[in-house]
Amino acid sequence: MNKKSIRDIELYGKKIFLRVDYNVQFSGDRILDDHRLRESIPTIQYLRDKGARIILCSHRGRPAGQIVEELRNDLVAKHLSSLLGTVVKACPVSIGPQAQDDTDALEPGELLLLENVRFHAEEEDNDDVFAQQLASLADIYVSDAFGTAHRAHASVVGVPKYIPGVTGLLLEREVEYLTKVTDDPQKPLGLVLGGAKVSEKLSILSFLSDRADVICVGGGIANTFLAAQGIDIGGSLAEHDRIDDAFLIMRKAAERDDLKLVLPRDVVISDPSGEIIEAVSVNRIPPEFRILDIGPETIDDFRAALAPMSTIAWNGPMGFFEREPFDVGSLAVAKILADLQNVTTVVGGGETAAAINRAGVLEDISHCSTGGGASLQLLEGRILPGLEALPDK
Ligand code: 3PG
Repeated sequence: MNKKSIRDIELYGKKIFLRVDYNVQFSGDRILDDHRLRESIPTIQYLRDKGARIILCSHRGRPAGQIVEELRNDLVAKHLSSLLGTVVKACPVSIGPQAQDDTDALEPGELLLLENVRFHAEEEDNDDVFAQQLASLADIYVSDAFGTAHRAHASVVGVPKYIPGVTGLLLEREVEYLTKVTDDPQKPLGLVLGGAKVSEKLSILSFLSDRADVICVGGGIANTFLAAQGIDIGGSLAEHDRIDDAFLIMRKAAERDDLKLVLPRDVVISDPSGEIIEAVSVNRIPPEFRILDIGPETIDDFRAALAPMSTIAWNGPMGFFEREPFDVGSLAVAKILADLQNVTTVVGGGETAAAINRAGVLEDISHCSTGGGASLQLLEGRILPGLEALPDK
């Protein structure tokens, strides 16, 4: 990546405004998934080793400019402290005299997490004065919030207007791996797409279908493709106003010898009461039954189609992943990717990353992105405002 990074600058004693994406959820005081926190650790350790004074900044949830008690950052600071084995102080505000005093008091290697930056409406408005107030706390801006890089918010694009900006190690790694898929990928390139809506995946489909050799489609979006084939999908969710789009992609694949589109040939269905759950051919879906996962034969088809690939990108679950037993297809795809040798596997999207974690195969995936919308936007070939805001080397 051609952006200036923390490796290119002097850090000792400097106050670093480190924008991270700690948009994580808790159940009581238990964090549900700390992938984003763990992935930020290499940057934090690097900065600590260099004697920087670290001011962490993140949003959580969508509090719309209001203080929402359950979206405070103090529990995040506590969990991060336990991961790092050192104290991460929580500051109850993100700007103003107390933020100034607390950040001034930091010694080299010490850490402080500011309060949820979205408690100020100015954050999402990308307000210049607010950005200056945040910037005034530090000497250098380090961007490691890949998951938020698609948002043109004050702490993402505004702060580096006022203090020098560089990338952190996570942001670098994210961009490096995701652009391995979009820019000159090692071929053959496979794409596994799932999730609820075709409409949300049309851009990635149209951008990557020109580069991909194999596209495996599961999840709710496959229903729209099946409907476009004239298959009766019973009571399954589908976007009937997108059938034409699905049809065009199927036609493109049919016309191109070098592009294979793999759609489900069997699916796991359930009746409205949820009492009957069975795997059936896509041609045998009774009225009112809903498709909730891909079936075992489809999993075999995906495995066979993906086996010869050198690069594979996966975005979106294969079914109603939140509820067992409809997570089987997603967990199987996670395993397929993990079992492949010498293949660059890149996974993006919150639920997709959750499938990788639940399957226990995180270590066997080349890169599991911390970004949902941001990873999708990069895979659509679009520019991220959070990256644009940083100076080139
Ligand atoms: C995410 O979780 O995808 C990022 O933190 C961005 O959150 P947002 O969609 O609320 O802007």
